[in-house]
Amino acid sequence: MGARIILGVSGSIAAFKAARLASDLVQSGHAVQVVLTPGGARFISPLTFEALSGRPVPLEVWDESGGQGPMGHIEMSRWADILAVAPASAGAVARLALGLPADMLGAVALSACCPLLIAPAMETGMWEHPATQEHVQTLRLRGATIVGPKIGRLASGASGAGRMAEPDEIRHEIERVLAGTGDLDGVRVLVTAGPTFEPIDPVRYIGNRSSGKMGYAVAEEAQQRGAEVTLISGPTALSPPAGMAVVPVETHDQMQGAVLQHGVGQDVIVMAAAVADFTPVEPASEKLRRSANLTLSLAPTSDIAAQATRAAPEAFHVGFALETGDLIGRAREKLQHKGQDLVVANAVSETHNPFGSDTNRVSLVTRDGIRELEESSKREVARQLWDEILRLRPELRLQHRSHQ
Ligand code: CTP
Repeated sequence: MGARIILGVSGSIAAFKAARLASDLVQSGHAVQVVLTPGGARFISPLTFEALSGRPVPLEVWDESGGQGPMGHIEMSRWADILAVAPASAGAVARLALGLPADMLGAVALSACCPLLIAPAMETGMWEHPATQEHVQTLRLRGATIVGPKIGRLASGASGAGRMAEPDEIRHEIERVLAGTGDLDGVRVLVTAGPTFEPIDPVRYIGNRSSGKMGYAVAEEAQQRGAEVTLISGPTALSPPAGMAVVPVETHDQMQGAVLQHGVGQDVIVMAAAVADFTPVEPASEKLRRSANLTLSLAPTSDIAAQATRAAPEAFHVGFALETGDLIGRAREKLQHKGQDLVVANAVSETHNPFGSDTNRVSLVTRDGIRELEESSKREVARQLWDEILRLRPELRLQHRSHQ
């Protein structure tokens, strides 16, 4: 059955794509009420949306037409099953996060109780600005679904993150939110993320450059799609995501203990952590003093991922492989000897270093082939990873029924 959708269109050149989105939604049987912000109306005419949706498009909060005109903001917010803002300009994202009823869209958003979905579209600098990132995080924590943005050509001619997701994808996400169930509903997921720190003495350690962003993105995406997530995190600068069980660890041994403790009974285990391969044999109990050359004796650590596949043989196991050489060959070897189902292969080269970056370029290596993904945000990579996991293990979609 068709849903009642408010489509907010704000001031970005991507407003032209909102016409396609409105048309697709109407053709899929939904009732679409478009709300244009003053900025949006500079890019595209209300008439376009009135023709596509068959409904008057309000521009002002104060409607003077004596009830014959468009719905008021309260009426509209009660009417809607979902509020989708596409494109969401930097200004619209900020107003939505701050709850400013500066225009009709802000007023509707503030009075609506329905789910909110936003598809940001702006120049890279604006998207990456900490202010915008904080606003997006605020919206996400309030339960909003954020679709995109993509990396690609922008209105300025430059290329970077900030391009609005395609109408097809936005419609798909709107329908997914409307269905009320994520496709990972009830699925139990364990994700490891970040580095491990191996102590040399009480103040020094051997670590690595992992920021934890990829693992956190995998965990957050799973959670948003309905999974029950346990995140085992090495030391990172990221704030622990709300609504999931977060187990903080520091060393390889602690991570191993946590994975073995929480791994049994999981449906999917994703080992995104950059676990130390070597650890000091005997960490000094006192701070080491500067003296002559210091030789550290390092012992290899045990492979946590391989132990996890043995401890939870029923689960779908995902590993990460960061390689400087033969990426796919090494990823295949890891798939085999760790007994995993999928390896996310990450090339590190002079031109591509995923450490700390917000974007990533990976290949998904499975027993039946390789899928190369385009460079995109770590969240987008996470989304495609979960799509692939569901393609390979479709019964996960039905998981929630069997747990009930
Ligand atoms: N990993 C693990 N336990 C370790 C080391 C790595 O579980 N002691 C996991 C990581 O979480 C990741 C995968 O193994 O999912 C690949 O890590 P990587 O360091 O690239 O591979 P290794 O297995 O250590 O192999 P090599 O160092 O020979 O490349």
